[in-house]
Amino acid sequence: MDRLLITGGVPLEGTVTVSGAKNAALPLIAATLLTDRPVELDNVPELADVTSMLRLVQRIGTSATYVGGAPGRVRLHTPELLAREAPYDLVRKMRASVLVLGPLLARGGEARVSLPGGCAIGPRPIDLHLKALERLGAVIDLVDGYVEARAPKGLAGAEIEFPQPSVGATENALMAAVLARGATRIVGAAREPEIVDLALLLRSMGARIVGAGTSVIEIEGVARLEGASHTIMPDRIEAGTYAMAAGITGGTLLIRNAPLELLGAAREKLVEAGLELVETQDGFVARRADGVLEGVDVMTRPYPGFATDLQAQFMALMCVARGAAMVTETIFENRFMHVPELMRLGARITVHGGSALVRGVERLKGAPVMATDLRASVSLVLAALAAEGRTEINRIYHLDRGYEHLDKKLAAVGARIERVP
Ligand code: EPZ
Repeated sequence: MDRLLITGGVPLEGTVTVSGAKNAALPLIAATLLTDRPVELDNVPELADVTSMLRLVQRIGTSATYVGGAPGRVRLHTPELLAREAPYDLVRKMRASVLVLGPLLARGGEARVSLPGGCAIGPRPIDLHLKALERLGAVIDLVDGYVEARAPKGLAGAEIEFPQPSVGATENALMAAVLARGATRIVGAAREPEIVDLALLLRSMGARIVGAGTSVIEIEGVARLEGASHTIMPDRIEAGTYAMAAGITGGTLLIRNAPLELLGAAREKLVEAGLELVETQDGFVARRADGVLEGVDVMTRPYPGFATDLQAQFMALMCVARGAAMVTETIFENRFMHVPELMRLGARITVHGGSALVRGVERLKGAPVMATDLRASVSLVLAALAAEGRTEINRIYHLDRGYEHLDKKLAAVGARIERVP
């Protein structure tokens, strides 16, 4: 089990290049199941979750080959579906495996996908996914912890109304609707940029989609889809995380390949907290403005609100800000696993239900801590970069799921960080 050793107190200076977005790459890989033609994806991040997703589609019948040897470019080709199953051992490790449900139903008329089960940040059901697919004509049974879905006569377009936005359910519905007979209208769709990226690929494959990125998406089904090539959008969560690394260490980072507007509502909140964010032609510069961080309240909301995937990182920043900050998590039931670990570093946080009150302290102090889920892990890295002395972070396989070469990227801008087996 690898660990990270970090000695804090160094203001980070230099350039960080943001990788392709994990939460775009995963649905994009699933979408390649929709055609028997080859699809090339560029800017693919080297992440454990991406490897898992590639392994899943390979089991289904996709050949995945790196183009030109560089890991960032993958050619995916599924001439025919050899299997129609996402087994429990894969789904329990990565919930995004459920994203093969829509494509398998649309292309092959049947799918057997394990229910995801819980994860560190909450139960995370897939009821909205299943209701949407039933609206498109799928017959769905739950057998032995598996979703057994069938559409023997194919899928038929319909009106789908989501009572609350769900990124994954919107993606599954979208990928199923593109090959359904007739028109589909998704009302209450999630608006995340990763959904816009998915629609971009689908449209380049010949799908007819209008409105991705808004809460109403309209699709006209087509009989088949062609191959395409697509460059994956940059990872806005990684970009936001590095901006906060500059803020918490009092440094200056040029964050390349990520336009500033991708930060959504986090942009204003970071400026309110005392960061200076300046657009450049291929990204933006993040630095702590006049040397002081201010406590700022945040509430996570579906896009374009403050991203829940940036909540833990922002909380780390608030631990060393002046004054207090109320951090409210409205998307997931249990996304405060980082709180007790931050408190081991000297942070002062009290949790009441979905809200955590952070009282800023002068300095955090290094200590051994444990990563629990992907974004909680990186909030501990941020805190350790600002803490006095040495911090040891255990169970960092969580980090490898969502941050490409994090230790190398941080070391390259001056962090005293070492990965030890
Ligand atoms: C996506 O998860 C992301 N994952 C998550 O990122 C992100 O936190 C989340 O969207 C919210 O932005 C990927 O894109 C692979 P949801 P997803 O469906 O699709 C409830 C990370 O760290 N819900 O928008 O699973 C659900 O329990 C990960 O990169 C239902 O009740 O999120 C949650 O409370 C973590 N029924 C809320 O909706 C459903 O059928 C939002 O979930 C589906 C979801």
